[in-house]
Amino acid sequence: MCGIMGYTGKADATGRLLAGLRALEYRGYDSAGVAVMDAENRVRIVKTKGRLRALEDRLEKCPVHGHCGIGHTRWATHGAPSDANAHPHGTDRLYVVHNGIIENDRELRAELGARGYAFQSQTDTEAAACLLDSLYAGMEDPLAALRAAVARLRGSYALGVIFLDHPEEIYAVREGNPLIVALGEDGGMIASDIPAVLRFARDCYVLEDGEIARVRADGAEFFDRDGRPVCKRPERIEWSTEAAERGGFAHFMLKEIHEEPLAVRQTLGRYVKDGLPDLRGAFDGECERLTMVACGTAMHAALVGKWLMEWLVRIPVEVCIASEFRYNRPVLSPNQRVVAISQSGETADTLAAVRLAKSLGARTVGVVNVPGSSVAREVDQALITCAGPEISVASTKAYTVQLMMMYLTAVQLGLARGALSRERARQIVAALTALPAAIETAIAQSERIQRMAACFDDAENCFFIGRGLDYPGAMEGSLKLKEITYIHSESYAAGELKHGAISLITRGMPVVALSTQEELKEKMRSNMREVASRGARVLLLATPQTAELAGDAEEAFILPDTDALLTPATAAVAMQLLAYYAAVRRGCDVDKPRNLAKSVTVE
Ligand code: G6P
Repeated sequence: MCGIMGYTGKADATGRLLAGLRALEYRGYDSAGVAVMDAENRVRIVKTKGRLRALEDRLEKCPVHGHCGIGHTRWATHGAPSDANAHPHGTDRLYVVHNGIIENDRELRAELGARGYAFQSQTDTEAAACLLDSLYAGMEDPLAALRAAVARLRGSYALGVIFLDHPEEIYAVREGNPLIVALGEDGGMIASDIPAVLRFARDCYVLEDGEIARVRADGAEFFDRDGRPVCKRPERIEWSTEAAERGGFAHFMLKEIHEEPLAVRQTLGRYVKDGLPDLRGAFDGECERLTMVACGTAMHAALVGKWLMEWLVRIPVEVCIASEFRYNRPVLSPNQRVVAISQSGETADTLAAVRLAKSLGARTVGVVNVPGSSVAREVDQALITCAGPEISVASTKAYTVQLMMMYLTAVQLGLARGALSRERARQIVAALTALPAAIETAIAQSERIQRMAACFDDAENCFFIGRGLDYPGAMEGSLKLKEITYIHSESYAAGELKHGAISLITRGMPVVALSTQEELKEKMRSNMREVASRGARVLLLATPQTAELAGDAEEAFILPDTDALLTPATAAVAMQLLAYYAAVRRGCDVDKPRNLAKSVTVE
């Protein structure tokens, strides 16, 4: 939800800001802008509605060069996408870029309006900029003004600020939304996320809530809410530079699907020791129950986890949509774990759920892909997955490694509770180790999936159906398809269809049947026939053990042979490719689907 980038140093600030924003565009892409201090220390603002490309076009026509500046790529919350609502916002003293929501913006607007401020936009950001301006006018001290502003602002935000009379410096503050400071050889930077600075710096500092940073070309200082200096240690960024670039693939999504075997290998490499899971003590001690909190794709990984843990471990698992967790008035006990799953580690609802769980006394574990992210830092124990940076808005490799953590957790708990023999545990882990090769096989056969994708060319609606372990898989397949093709897609437990949704089947409507569990094959066959006899085009995803169902389908894709427990992973890859090719055929912008943002940092 909005990307922030700032740079001060020897390089051309505009070029650096654009490079950073390009890597952050997954956070929002309805408008973009920069504020750059030129050689005479005059600020130049260029901003526009539309993708970053539109901003680049403007900058090509009217180049702006300088040594220090801030930039922004937006996902609208307050005020529709427009040139006026694009960031930066500011006054003749300062400019601001913002990620988050200022909740008391109406009150601030009224107050500041009465004091003579005329607003140019409908954004909450402009209220923050004017508030800061009014405070700065009296103090002329950026740090003091920012501290005073923090005391007045309500909501969650990360702000990047330049003051016109401090032309070499960038100021940053966060309250609830991510912000890092990075120091490279040619200057200092602020950014919403690591990929923005990957090409330019390896050391980064993660701002904590309420902290303020002053960044110069040759260093950064940090202060707490009371203005006391804070000594921070840098975190070393290990991700490779190429990981955040498209590397010859048409889209990040396709590249990231191809990276799944590596992501799985790396994640297993970190958490498997001597053929058994080693989850760094995260589930040691009494653990009678699990509650998992997550959003979107991560929530589907949790649902697969629930199935695995209830089957293999006989431990009760509850899965809560993170945004609903607080309304359930959760009943938590000290001998349980609350597991938060999040690729970004910044999803506001997941973070709020972690905080609530902690306040209720629960022990928390995070399955998180971004090291140093808020969820990773706030849980009692973080298990960092090794997918590397995921740029495509639709999650692919991060989901597969979340699944890996679900398997390893189930096996670890199964062993601890005596529900699994060591032999079976080793068998499952060995099967996991063989998974990257199976995923490679599935990807190599993507031509067959492309054929299946053609069935969605004219589709307006479709269903994904599955039973048992295939049901959460169907939910994820359906989400992937709707996210990037805009086809209205729903997932159903196959047996539930006839209790309502079957009335929606019309001639030619694709129904993807996921059938990987041999013992449920005959029931799935009946469900496939039920929809086919009402005109649906049945597209089957099966395994060698259920392949005979292909006779009841218009198209079939047979997943590589694996332990039946592991099919959610291979099926996920096939369905990701299906959604990808269907979206490409329909001319959709795969990596940047409309209305979505990858990292949802507002509640
Ligand atoms: C957004 C993204 C999804 C993602 C979800 C949770 O909705 O578009 O792809 O699954 O957020 O994100 P997280 O970073 O917490 O896994």
